[in-house]
Amino acid sequence: MKIKSLKVNTKQKKYSIYFNNNLTNEINKILDKERFKFEKCLIVYDSKIKRNFVEKLLKRIKSPKKYSLRLISSETNKNFKNVNLIIKYLLKEKFSRNDCVISLGGGIVGDLSSFAASIFKRGIKFINIPTTLLAQVDASIGGKTGINDKVYGKNLIGTFYQPDLVLIDINFLKTLNYRELICGYAEIFKHSLISSKKNFLYLDKFIKKILLLKKSYLTRAVIESCKIKKEIVEKDEREKNLRQVLNLGHTFGHAYEAACNYTKNLNHGEAVILGIKTAVKFSFKKKYLNKIAYNKIMMHIKKINFKLSVNKIFKKKDINKILGFMLNDKKNVSSKINLVLLKGIGSPIINKPFHSNEIKKFFLKELINL
Ligand SMILES: NC(=O)c1ccc[n+]([C@@H]2O[C@H](COP(=O)([O-])OP(=O)(O)OC[C@H]3O[C@@H](n4cnc5c(N)ncnc54)[C@H](O)[C@@H]3O)[C@@H](O)[C@H]2O)c1
Repeated sequence: MKIKSLKVNTKQKKYSIYFNNNLTNEINKILDKERFKFEKCLIVYDSKIKRNFVEKLLKRIKSPKKYSLRLISSETNKNFKNVNLIIKYLLKEKFSRNDCVISLGGGIVGDLSSFAASIFKRGIKFINIPTTLLAQVDASIGGKTGINDKVYGKNLIGTFYQPDLVLIDINFLKTLNYRELICGYAEIFKHSLISSKKNFLYLDKFIKKILLLKKSYLTRAVIESCKIKKEIVEKDEREKNLRQVLNLGHTFGHAYEAACNYTKNLNHGEAVILGIKTAVKFSFKKKYLNKIAYNKIMMHIKKINFKLSVNKIFKKKDINKILGFMLNDKKNVSSKINLVLLKGIGSPIINKPFHSNEIKKFFLKELINL
C-alpha cells in the first residue's frame, strides 16, 4: 500500500506527517524511510489504548530499550505532576537527547508528553501518534505543547516544540465515541471555514459518510484538514498573526469551557463547536457575513447532530463570568477582546478587537438563540 505523507517546513524543524492505516506493521518501514534512529524510547499512552496494542507497537520498534507509561487523560491531569512523572522516568532510565518520547493518545497525552519532551535536556526527539480525530487534524500538528493551571486556566504553561514525526492511522478512530468524534470534526469544519468554499462544500456533501468513518471520505477530510493547518503553521509558527485564524470559535469556546470548570459536561471540542456557532452568529449580526453564507453554515452545524446549545448550558447570570474568561485569554493584549470572524466561507478576518460591553450586549440579545 502506498504511504501518503505531508512535509511540514517550520523554522524550528522540518518533519513529516504520515497517513497510514496499518501503523503497527509499517512503523519500522516509516522510521527507516525517515532515517530516524534512537537507542531508547518511551511510549506515553492513553489508558483507553489497549495494552496489547502498545505491546505490539513496542515489539515492532527496533530500538534496543523500550519503555511505556500509561496516563489517564483528563484536563485536570494535564498538569506538572504528570510532566514530572514523564521527566523522572526519562531521568531514571538515563535517556539522552538522541532518544525518543512517543505520544500515543489524544490531545491531552500529546500536549503533556510533548511539553515534557521539549524541556527534558532542552529537547529530546518526539514522535506523535494521535489517536483521536481532534488530535489527528489539530493538536498533533504545529508544535504547541502545554499544560493547565488549576486556578488560572488552560494551556497557560507551555512551549513551541515541533515534533520530529507525526503518524496518523484512522483505524484508531473506530473505538472513539460519537461525542469525541464530532469534537474532531469541529476542527475539520473550522479548517474548511477559514480556508476555502471548496473544502466546505466537500464536507457539506459527505458529512454523513465522514462521520460514519467511511475510509476514503474520512481519509480525504483528515488529509485536507492537516494540509490547511500545516500551511498556516508554516507561515506563522509562533502565532504572531496569520495563525490566529485557527482561533475561529476558540475565544468563545475556551471561555465556555472555563465557565463550566472544565468538567465533562462540556468537553474541549464541544465548546469549540458552540464557539464557532457563536462567532458565526456574531459575524452575521455585525454584517460581515451575509445571510446566505450564515444559513449554509448553520445548516451544516445541524447536520452534525449536536445536541448542546449555549442557552441550555448558560443563563444570563453567567455572561459576566464568560466575558471575564474571554478578557483573560492569553491571545488578548489589551482590555478589548480580539475575535476571529468570518466575512464569507473561506474568508476569515483576524485581529478584530471588540469592547466587552459590545459582546455583552450581543449575549444579552442572542443568548436565547445560541
Ligand atoms: N497542541 C495543540 O495545538 C492543541 C490543539 C487543539 C487541542 N489541544 C488540546 O487537546 C486536548 C483535547 O484533545 P482530545 O479531544 O484528543 O482529548 P483527549 O486526549 O482527552 O481524548 C478524548 C477522550 O478520548 C479517549 N481516547 C483517546 N484515544 C482513543 C481511542 N483511539 N479510542 C477511544 N478513546 C480514545 C481519551 O482517553 C479521552 O477520554 C485539550 O486539552 C486541548 O487543549 C491542543
